[in-house]
Amino acid sequence: MNMQRIQTLEGNHNLENYEDTYKNFNWDEVKDAFSWSHTGKVNIAYEAIDRHAENPDKADQPALIFSSPDRQEQLTFTDLKQASNQFANVLKKHEIQKGDRVFLFMPRSPEFYAAFLGILKVGAIAGPLFEAFMEQAVRDRLEDSEATMLITTKDLLERVPVDDLPNLKQIVLIDGDGEGFISYEEEMKEASKSFDIEWVDLEDGMLLHYTSGSTGKPKGVYHVHNAMLQHYQTGRWVLDLQEGDQYWCTADPGWVTGTSYGIFAPWLNGVTNVVRGGRFSPDDWYETLQNHGITVWYSAPTAFRKLMSAGEALVKNYDLSNLRHILSVGEPLNPEVIAWGMDAFHLRVHDTWWMTETGAQVVCNFPSLDMKPGSMGKPIPGVEASIIDNEGSELPPNQMGNLAVKAGWPSMMRAIWKRPEKYESYFLNGWYISGDSAYRDEEGYFWFQGRLDDVINTSGERVGPFEVESKLIEHKAVAEAGVIGKPDPERGEIVKAFITLNDGYEQSDELLEDIRQFVKRGLSAHAAPREIEVKDKIPKTRSGKIMRRLLKSWELGLPTGDTSTLEE
Ligand code: WTA
Repeated sequence: MNMQRIQTLEGNHNLENYEDTYKNFNWDEVKDAFSWSHTGKVNIAYEAIDRHAENPDKADQPALIFSSPDRQEQLTFTDLKQASNQFANVLKKHEIQKGDRVFLFMPRSPEFYAAFLGILKVGAIAGPLFEAFMEQAVRDRLEDSEATMLITTKDLLERVPVDDLPNLKQIVLIDGDGEGFISYEEEMKEASKSFDIEWVDLEDGMLLHYTSGSTGKPKGVYHVHNAMLQHYQTGRWVLDLQEGDQYWCTADPGWVTGTSYGIFAPWLNGVTNVVRGGRFSPDDWYETLQNHGITVWYSAPTAFRKLMSAGEALVKNYDLSNLRHILSVGEPLNPEVIAWGMDAFHLRVHDTWWMTETGAQVVCNFPSLDMKPGSMGKPIPGVEASIIDNEGSELPPNQMGNLAVKAGWPSMMRAIWKRPEKYESYFLNGWYISGDSAYRDEEGYFWFQGRLDDVINTSGERVGPFEVESKLIEHKAVAEAGVIGKPDPERGEIVKAFITLNDGYEQSDELLEDIRQFVKRGLSAHAAPREIEVKDKIPKTRSGKIMRRLLKSWELGLPTGDTSTLEE
C-alpha cells in the first residue's frame, strides 16, 4: 500500500467536492436545517430531539441505544423527548432557572442523557463531569462554576464535598433517596411528560466543559446554543452521517467529544446514537460494533492502539460488514494505526483535529479527500485555520508555527467562566491560538507537531501539570514537585513527577506508591503520575516558576538550552 497517500474509497459522501465547497460555503446556508430559521424559537435540545419526535417518520426510530454489561435499553426520539421533558419539569419544580449551572456527575446511562437534555430545555447550563474524577477535581469545578444543583449517584456522592460548597443547594440522586436529597426515580414518576421549552437566544449558554491548561486550576470553557450549526454540519461533512446510520462515539460526555459528537452531532442529524457503558475490552468493543451493526465509528488513537495490540486474528471473529466510516480524535494518529485499519477493516481511519475551546471539529480528513497518513487533513468549509508566528502573521507552507483558527466560527467558546482576561489572552490579531504547533504543506494539509505549552496529553486526556503539582505537595512527604509528560508508545505521553521530600522522609517504593495513590484518590486515575522520581532540588526560575522545560530535557537527555533564568 502506498502510505504516502490513500485515495478516497468508493461511496456517496455528503461532501463530494471539498475544494468547491470550501470556496463557496456560507454558514447562512445551514440555517434552513433548523426549525428556528422559520419559527424564531431556539433551543438545541429541541432541534436534537423534539423536532424528530414531532416528525411521524422519525418519532418511533431509536435515538439512543444504551448497552453496558448489565443493562440494555433503547429509547426512541419520542421516549427521549418525554423523559427529558419529565426531567425539565423536575428542574422547574426545584426552581432551576435559565443560566443556572446544573452539573452531572455520573456514569453514562439513559438517565444521564434525559437529564442533560432536560437541563438544556429549561435554559440552564449543563456541566458534565467525568465519572472518574475524585474529590479535588469535583470540588474545583463545582466551586468555580457556582453550580446550584448536582445530579449524581449514591456511589459517587462520597466524592462531593457537599458541606464546603455554599452555592450547591440541591442534589438529585439517581439511584437512591435520603434526607435532603431529591430522588430521581420518584420525581420522574410524578413529572408530566409535556413541557414548554424555554426558548433562548443563539448566544445563550448551554454547556460548561472544564479543561486543563499549563497553569492554574482547570478553566470553564463556555459554549452557547449557536454551536449547533457546526455540530450539525460537521456531522454531515466529517462524520458523513446518513439516514439509517448506527453511530457510535466511544467518548464519555465528561469530555467535549462525548457531548459535541456523543450527543449533538448524531441527534441534530436524526441518527441513532449507540452508547456503550462499562470499561474497555477488545472483545466488548468488537461485539458492540458487530451486534449494533455500527456504520460510523468515532474513537481515539489510544483505543485503536489497544485494539491493534490485541491482534488482527481477533477482528476476524466478528462480522463488521456494516462499518462504513471510522474517525479519530484527541491525539496524533499514527500512520501505523491507519495501516492497521486498512488491513483489519479495509477502511481508512480519518483523523480530526479540534479541542474543547473550538467546540467542534476544525481540521479534518474528509471521506471524499485523499488522505496523507500523519496529516490531520484540511479545515472544514466555513472555518479558516492557519499557521501563524508569535506576532500573529500567517506563515508560508512548510513552516512550523502556532496552529490558529480565525475567530468567529459557529461553535467557538464564548468565554472562560468568570475569567475575561484569560479568554482575551487566547486571541492574537483576530486568531484563536490553539497552543498546538503544526505546519501546512503546499497542498493545504495540516501536520501536527506538538504542544507549545506544558499541557500533557495522556491517552487523549488533557492533564494540567499545575493541578498535579498542587496535589502532590499536599502529601505530607512531598516538599516540591514538577510534572511533565513523558513520551510513551501506547498512551502518547504518561504523567511523570519529579519531587523533593520533606525532612524525615526516606525514598522507598511504598512511599512513592502512597504518593501516587494520593493523587489518584484526590484528582483521578489519569492524572496520577505513572512515574515519580525523587530529586534533591526542583529547578525553578528566580520568580519561583517550576522549569518544566528543563525537567523534560533531563528526562529526554536533551541539551538544557537557555537556563539563564534559573534561580541561583
Ligand atoms: C490534542 C479533544 C493531534 C491537541 C477534542 C489539542 C490532537 C488537544 C488531535 C485538545 C489530533 C486533539 N492530532 N493532537 N487529531 N486532536 N489533539 O480539549 O493537543 O480534550 O490541543 O479536545 O488534544 O484536547 P481536548
